[in-house]
Amino acid sequence: MVSRVKTGIKGFDALIGGGLPKGLVSIVAGIPGAGKSIFGLEFLVRGAEKNEPGLYVTFSQASKDILEQGKQFGWNVPAFEKARKLKVFVIPVDEMNTDIFGLIEKEVKKIGAKRLVIDSLAELIINSGMYYITLKKTKHESLVTDMDLNGKLTFNSDVFGEKTNQQFVYLFVNKIKGLGITSLFVTDAPENGDYLTRDTVSEFACDGVILLHHMSMGTQEFRTVDVKKMRLTNQKKGVHKFSITKKGIVVSDESIGVYALK
Ligand SMILES: Nc1ncnc2c1ncn2[C@@H]1O[C@H](COP(=O)(O)OP(=O)(O)OP(=O)(O)O)[C@@H](O)[C@H]1O
Ligand SMILES: [Mg+2]
Repeated sequence: MVSRVKTGIKGFDALIGGGLPKGLVSIVAGIPGAGKSIFGLEFLVRGAEKNEPGLYVTFSQASKDILEQGKQFGWNVPAFEKARKLKVFVIPVDEMNTDIFGLIEKEVKKIGAKRLVIDSLAELIINSGMYYITLKKTKHESLVTDMDLNGKLTFNSDVFGEKTNQQFVYLFVNKIKGLGITSLFVTDAPENGDYLTRDTVSEFACDGVILLHHMSMGTQEFRTVDVKKMRLTNQKKGVHKFSITKKGIVVSDESIGVYALK
């Protein structure tokens, strides 16, 4: 039996056999405003309520925005932080020239996190060139020995091209998986195209892919969630409506069809 971690998001666990497989990494992908950050935050809040500490890593959104967002749903994030059940860990983009994996690992251990959200993987990838350079200089050096890197690297987009970003995604996902905690990586999805994510590989590298979408029809707005993939799980196929209520996300068990919006 696979051990499962209930997200606690109303209606969502039923789509994935009761919860996320413990210790695996999933992405929450979607266009801007799809609800990715709220989804990630609620996953941690529901964990904190059950005494499962969670770490929310973000690179741009100021922690006060996250606290403010939580407040709108009645989630007392500062109280959870005080009780060491939830931590919002902001790494400013201009401080990303450091061993980010090491930083995250340290914070995870500090609060004994069982849940992790990284918001966002897309931002991390953009800055991964810096991350690579730093990795080379740290104890994680072995990670990059077979990479196409040499001492002459600069922050040049010709050098840090698609392949490097893709290698970075695989390495990073594997390092995080090594922590053994259940993780969600928020990332960008293009509106159209052949791939579910902009980086084109995280959907393969990660164990699960949760696609959020929103669209307007006249004055009506639709939000949908579609679990494209969940390893070790016979997930409910199809596009399911959800809404963002005063108390958080509520997913409908009714499918409105397969690939209707994507
Ligand atoms: N209190 C609320 N009640 C209902 N809907 C809300 C509330 N707060 C935010 N929203 C909706 O959620 C959207 C933002 O959600 P969220 O921040 O999770 O999106 P996102 O997918 O992370 O976007 P981005 O890619 O821009 O970071 C807003 O555009 C708004 O439509
Ligand atoms: Mg967001």
